[in-house]
Formats: sequence, C-alpha cells, structure tokens
Amino acid sequence: MTGELSPIDKAKFVAAKRAAEMVEDGMRVGLGTGSTAAWLVRCLGEMVRSEGLRIKGVPTSTRTAELAREVGIDIISLDEAKWLDLTIDGADEFDGDLNLIKGGGGALLQEKIVATASDRMVVIADKAKEVETLGAFPLPVEVIPFGWQTTQALVEETLVAMNVMGRKTTLRMNGDAAFVTDEGNHILDLHLNRIGNARQLALVMNQIPGVVENGLFIDICDTVVVGYGDGKVEVRDINEGTIETDRLEFMESDNLFADLGD
Ligand code: A5P
Repeated sequence: MTGELSPIDKAKFVAAKRAAEMVEDGMRVGLGTGSTAAWLVRCLGEMVRSEGLRIKGVPTSTRTAELAREVGIDIISLDEAKWLDLTIDGADEFDGDLNLIKGGGGALLQEKIVATASDRMVVIADKAKEVETLGAFPLPVEVIPFGWQTTQALVEETLVAMNVMGRKTTLRMNGDAAFVTDEGNHILDLHLNRIGNARQLALVMNQIPGVVENGLFIDICDTVVVGYGDGKVEVRDINEGTIETDRLEFMESDNLFADLGD
C-alpha cells in the first residue's frame, strides 16, 4: 500500500507517526485538521485499538471529528476537556521561530482556540512547509458573512500600512458558492507574498470589525516534527532549542493506509 504514497504523503505520514509517540495514556489531545492531521488521527486510532491507549480527543473540525470516531478515538468537546495536554496539527507554513500560517483547510478558528488551550502544541509537516519568511501561502482570515465585502475593503485598506509585498484578497469559494466554515463564516485569502512583521499583522487584522480570526499562529507552536519522503523525521523544539533526528519505517501491512481520505 505504501508504494502508492507520494514522497510528500510519506513525509506527512512519518511526521504524524512520530508525533503520535508523544501522546501518553490518559491525555486530552487536540486533534488538528488537514491531510497531515488525518494521518495522526489514524495513527492514534491504531494505538487505541491495538495498544489500548486511552485518550480523549478534542477535534478541530467536523471532518476530524468524523474520522476520529471512525477510527475509535473517544471524542469530547473543548468545554468538556477545559484544558488540553497536547494539540497536534498540521500547518501551511512554519518559520524558524515556529510561527505558522494555518487555515488552508478552513479550520483555523477552532484550531487556534484548541491550540491555545493546550499545554503544548506540536506541528506536523513535510519539509516543503518550511519557509524563511511567512507569506508565500495566502493568509486565511475568517470573517462573518454580514457585510463581508465591507470587511474585505477594510482589510485591504489596512494592508496598505502593513509590511507586506502583496495586497490582493480573494473570497474563498467552494464551487460556485462562498466557502462556509464550521462556524458559519467565510474566509478571505490574503495574497501577501511576504509578511515582514507577522506579529503586528496578526494583531492588527483582529482589530477589524467583521474579522473573527486570522491564520497567523504566533508563539503558539512549541515543537515541529518535520517529515521527509525517505522516512527521516526531525523534532525541533523551540523551548529546548533542540533538534532530534530519527528515521521511521513504513509498515507495508499497516491498515492505516486503507480508505485514504482528506
Ligand atoms: C486546516 O485549516 C489547516 O490549518 C491545516 O492544518 C493546514 O492547511 C495543513 O494542511 P495539510 O496537512 O493538508 O497540508
């Protein structure tokens, strides 16, 4: 089965598999959204079924909740959990300070709430997500539907004073209709090319009426697990200042590779 995986998928898988090893019995775990996080959920499901791992999962989207239930992970709401031991999620970009762009999958709002309510956030990503400066990936900004075009105009006006290289914004679509998030909102994608001051931009965006949240995760991520297509993984911890290298084997018989989705 693994022979069918692309190098990028293998990289995502090994990052997820390595991060799953950080999950301990009894933990309350935030479960991210996206294709890399889906690998994590599958790995954890396998650990629940075959090793008797007992965890409570707090999903960051309806998609993740469905997958987690499917693979046998106990799901609770964030309000039931109140606080989490660990959140593991993907990212669209990460820089050397482990600041992130997230929201390519449209789940940034729940993802940021859940990650912020965790003792530790671990990002799992393939090497291609690493950047020197954030911004090549369009920055997702969640806006409420009421007056979204006015909000978009305000966002564009605000960008004039920001240290960015592009200012085009687009409404994310789902076919012919505007994309709708799990919270019933829309997403503006900001094509900034390069974000000179991500911390400032994150703060300023959230001051605009109509903006619910932006996809910049500043000082939230503690550890990134970087996966490579040959099975190599690097665990970089920003607090400890350490980088550990490891190599994971693909398990051909692993039923994780059945029924791929997301
Ligand atoms: C979901 O809203 C995003 O934040 C994802 O975590 C991000 O887009 C990474 O997704 P992939 O793992 O699919 O690349």
